[in-house]
Amino acid sequence: MALNIAVIAGDGVGPEVVGAALEVMAVAASADGFEYTTHDLPYGGTHYLETGEVITDAQIDELRPFDAVLLGAVGHPDVKPGILEKGLLLKLRFTLDQFINLRPVKLLAGVSTPLAGKGPKEIDFDVIRENTEDLYTGAGGIARKGTANEVATQEMLATRFGVERCLRYAFEFCKAKKAAGTGGGQLTLVHKTNVLTHCGDLWFRAFNEIGDADYKDIERVYHHVDACCMYMVAKPEIYDTIVVPNMFGDIITDLGAAIAGGMGVAASGNLNPTGAAPSMFEPVHGSAPDIAGKNIANPVATVISVAMLLRETGRIKGDNAAIAAADRIDAAVRKVCPNFTGKSMDRLGIGTDAVTKMILEAL
Ligand code: NAD
Ligand code: IPM
Ligand code: MN
Repeated sequence: MALNIAVIAGDGVGPEVVGAALEVMAVAASADGFEYTTHDLPYGGTHYLETGEVITDAQIDELRPFDAVLLGAVGHPDVKPGILEKGLLLKLRFTLDQFINLRPVKLLAGVSTPLAGKGPKEIDFDVIRENTEDLYTGAGGIARKGTANEVATQEMLATRFGVERCLRYAFEFCKAKKAAGTGGGQLTLVHKTNVLTHCGDLWFRAFNEIGDADYKDIERVYHHVDACCMYMVAKPEIYDTIVVPNMFGDIITDLGAAIAGGMGVAASGNLNPTGAAPSMFEPVHGSAPDIAGKNIANPVATVISVAMLLRETGRIKGDNAAIAAADRIDAAVRKVCPNFTGKSMDRLGIGTDAVTKMILEAL
């Protein structure tokens, strides 16, 4: 039973960090004895400039038989902002119904944080970002464009269905962490209910109704998103699991990346936890055109994303060897991190190749 993985390396540093992560996967696979195939796909800025197409519906359908997608990054200096981000990344997340964006915020031992007096014990939580609704649906439009009377709207959208499936995933995730002894069983909803009295109200009621009905053993906390930003910096130790709508989740997870060492280590999974379509794993960072092609991008974020891919795909397919390989990769990353103490994970001063070699040796 081989895992079939579609690979979209994408733009900028994407191919560099994906290449490194695939080397790591190959060694872990031979150590733990799981089989897989990879299939490279050309989508991204260069493909768009050459063909005039980002990705078609038929090409997305061709991804459905795969067990997972590994994505580097998209974003090209010669392509207008939004075309690739909406036309590729968001289109994949929406069409494959990857309704959970799981983004761990965990400071690994040895990695430096800009927060004084905080360490791996304090910075250790998970953000569960809703991934198919909210301001991201593109509802709204521009009328009378380019005139003095121009008007633009972009609407925040929450459905009971979309909110409920995200909240249920978050409650289950928090419960599983508590059972495994890796969390205290506390779920924090982050929103802005004091201003967003329509969407926020729907989220808040659903949170409490589901919690009261099915998760009495999970402690519920609510924070406004502005206060959450302050707490993430001042006392990150108060968080165990956060559940948050799409737009606020995008913003607070960049803050999360910064406190956990930088974009060089922030990993994510766009999950369709039902297994009805493949999930997609990617570093949180973008194509980083400022450092592309220089062998200085940190591959750790993509390597951890590959571990997430193997853990989630192994769970869905019942492939224990893939799950063992995920643990092996995480352990190898933990082993090399103390070498980075005092350095910024975004400007390590160690080449992509050299970091990859350290991880391969630790495997
Ligand atoms: P970015 O994440 O690409 O870069 C932000 C900063 O972090 C830069 O200074 C960069 O050098 C640094 N950085 C990023 N990844 C790094 C790594 N692996 N190692 C070391 N340093 C790293 O964000 P941006 O500059 O705002 O966006 C660039 C392009 O990427 C844009 O087109 C944007 O839309 C796109 N983008 C794509 C994704 C994605 O594909 N998932 C995510 C975010 C941004
Ligand atoms: C991310 C990115 C994307 C998002 C963009 C590139 C569409 O910022 O993965 O966090 O907003 O979700
Ligand atoms: Mn983002």
